Amino acid sequence: MESINIHSSGPAFSRVITGAWRWQSLSAHEVDALINASLDQGITTFDHADIYGNYSCEALFGKSLHRNSSLRGQMQLVTKCGIKLQSEKWPGTWINHYDNTHDHIVSSVNNSLKNLQTDHIDLLLLHRPDPLMDPAEVAQAFSLLKQSGKVLHFGVSNYSSTQFEMLREYTHDPLVTNQIEVSLFRHHLLFDGTVDTLMKHQVCPMAWSPLAGGKLFPESPDSDLIHRQVGEMAARYSCNISQLMLAWLLKHPSRMLPILGTTNPARVEEGAKAMNIQIDRQDWFALLRIARGRDVD
Ligand SMILES: NC(=O)c1ccc[n+]([C@@H]2O[C@H](COP(=O)([O-])OP(=O)(O)OC[C@H]3O[C@@H](n4cnc5c(N)ncnc54)[C@H](OP(=O)(O)O)[C@@H]3O)[C@@H](O)[C@H]2O)c1
Repeated sequence: MESINIHSSGPAFSRVITGAWRWQSLSAHEVDALINASLDQGITTFDHADIYGNYSCEALFGKSLHRNSSLRGQMQLVTKCGIKLQSEKWPGTWINHYDNTHDHIVSSVNNSLKNLQTDHIDLLLLHRPDPLMDPAEVAQAFSLLKQSGKVLHFGVSNYSSTQFEMLREYTHDPLVTNQIEVSLFRHHLLFDGTVDTLMKHQVCPMAWSPLAGGKLFPESPDSDLIHRQVGEMAARYSCNISQLMLAWLLKHPSRMLPILGTTNPARVEEGAKAMNIQIDRQDWFALLRIARGRDVD
């Protein structure tokens, strides 16, 4: 598996990433198996957020790192902060909201470090744009976390072009990614300037829900036809449909990094193998046509 610098200042991440959003009900054995299946494939980067699994997934992962002390040195950890969900674990939160204040960012990182049982986070992302965010306060929090060695790199998630441009004017450290929702059937951010802005700043996007959360295809009267057409192309490339969808993302020149959401070690292996599929330019557009239901103009 290729490892790339997602920005000129780093970090170096595996081109395909494993995400822990859906790991809430996994046993310790299953968590270990997913981590090992990823590392076996050269997937060394793991995506988390404080809120995943009702604030439980980071700790599940951290327990695995504690059980297997050699693991942490073989991987990079991404986590996120800034969403506050109603939960019995946070009784003071009575409404779901965003909080990108200095104090919340710092305390969230401290919690994540404790839960993940590590002394540093490789990349911290602001999970969502917070309309009440003071960018100067965010910059101060990032600087403090950087100086203390608790966080090595910073980025954002679900930011528009202008939100990305705005925040990067304030932070001392560069924003090294924007983690966005992109898949074959949800590709509008490739065309609305979001990805162009990242390319302008030589920042690689991370792609969440690269298989549309397992739905693969949108519900539509044409879904049988779409399924058949994508399936025929997958057969031509000797791969399955989900691998073809990942290869479609991997061909994009922004060098985006798909985050696999599967809880099945065999599908981790399948996903990693998508790296070996080189989609022809015209086939890339043929898939776009299938997804859009029309040719390019
Ligand atoms: N930044 C954000 O706001 C944000 C939001 C959402 C997610 N994320 C990150 O992105 C990661 C990936 O998101 P995601 O979980 O939605 O990714 P995804 O890979 O699009 O979807 C994963 C789901 O698809 C199923 N699946 C995988 N392959 C399949 C196949 N061939 N056929 C049918 N179902 C299949 C999986 O089931 P099995 O487990 O049974 O394989 C799992 O339920 C998350 O773990 C998280 O780290 C970030």
